[in-house]
Amino acid sequence: MTERPPVADWTTDFDHLSEEWAAKSPEILAELRERCPVAQTERFWGAYLVSRHTDVVRAARDTDTFSSRITIINDNHPDNIGLKLPPITLDPPEHGPIRRALLPSFSPKATDELEPTVLEMANRILEATAGREIVDGALEYSQLLPVEVMGYLFGVSPEVGPSFRRWVSAIVRDGLADLDVARVAAREVQEFFAAQLRDRAALGDKAPDDLVTTVLNAQVESPDGGSRPFSEIERIGSLIIMMLGGIDTTWSSLGSMLLHLGTHPEDLAQLTAHPGLIPSAVEEFLRLYSPVTIARYITEDAEVAGCPVGEGRRVLLSYPSANRDPGHFDRPDELVLDREDNRHMAFGVGVHRCLGSNLARMELRVGLSTWLERYPCFELAVDPEEVTFSVGPVRGPRSVPLRILN
Ligand code: HEM
Repeated sequence: MTERPPVADWTTDFDHLSEEWAAKSPEILAELRERCPVAQTERFWGAYLVSRHTDVVRAARDTDTFSSRITIINDNHPDNIGLKLPPITLDPPEHGPIRRALLPSFSPKATDELEPTVLEMANRILEATAGREIVDGALEYSQLLPVEVMGYLFGVSPEVGPSFRRWVSAIVRDGLADLDVARVAAREVQEFFAAQLRDRAALGDKAPDDLVTTVLNAQVESPDGGSRPFSEIERIGSLIIMMLGGIDTTWSSLGSMLLHLGTHPEDLAQLTAHPGLIPSAVEEFLRLYSPVTIARYITEDAEVAGCPVGEGRRVLLSYPSANRDPGHFDRPDELVLDREDNRHMAFGVGVHRCLGSNLARMELRVGLSTWLERYPCFELAVDPEEVTFSVGPVRGPRSVPLRILN
């Protein structure tokens, strides 16, 4: 594990893997938006951080200059590509055909059909907390529901849940600063999905209708109008990105919602009195507590907001910061439960816009309403200063102990 020297100046020496960043990134980003829209660091082999709405959108749409061949910034050299996770690590034109092959599994119709199952899961998870005075809204609820949902979609045993959680934490959190941790987890998860694919292949026509079978049978359109099956790398990589993309993003969002409501009794009262606000509240929570910050690889020298950015380096595009840009949103740091025209970027922008956004929205809506039906009145059971946040590309509270008041 590398020693992390403290940050001297966030405009010239940022470190998005530090505990200080995890604790205070909304405040740090507010200052960067104001003073330095393209921050720099000589850490991570030299990297940049883009914080204003306009610049994030522009860079995310310019896939020629800002490539997705790498989407995280860790201590690896930028030319060390690491895991190939199609479609997220592909640029056009290779990206589109892989994405299109996966999209039907996350359509509004597929998501609607899944809703009763997710509702049943949410109720079952909460049932285990019945009668308790303190329930951890993150560890005992938010972090369990998306793991169950993704396990169900992959058609794997619920007993795999703890391994999913371990792999996600190792790859997108601890493994960013400790590359051996990431390597071990990546090997394990690759072997796991390779074995799942072999099982489905052995079942032939009798294979269950799940995401592993879908990927096994998926076809990539080719430019000549024909098609070919996914390669083994495409199969395993796409299964891994669906697992990584589907789990701690959603758990971080749900955890942030419960933390906010446990510390803002007026919002909790408004939401329980008007449950019809839940869909717009989910959008507003996504905007205010956007969990995902993504990286790109710079393919040629370019400029962002008039600042030169160098070829071969990586850049962080802060969707969380864009979503609080006062140039784009009124009262950006406030939760406005009925905010209209809330075109936030929590799910990204451009060709890589989240593949699972329908599923995520449904899980968040069901997750939040099920909690509120059972526990309409609660408060944070510790000092807010004691709540810590995850380090890495996905930000959310690690633990949210809530005192149940009804
Ligand atoms: C609150 C929950 C979620 C948030 C905030 C979120 C956020 C994002 C963001 C910001 C991107 C764009 C990345 C980029 O610009 O490179 C993305 C892409 C992606 N997400 Fe999500 N996500 C969520 C849930 C899910 C779920 C449930 C899945 C289920 C499979 C999923 C799968 C993916 C995949 C596969 C991509 C890559 C799409 C592509 O490259 O075309 N996400 N997500």
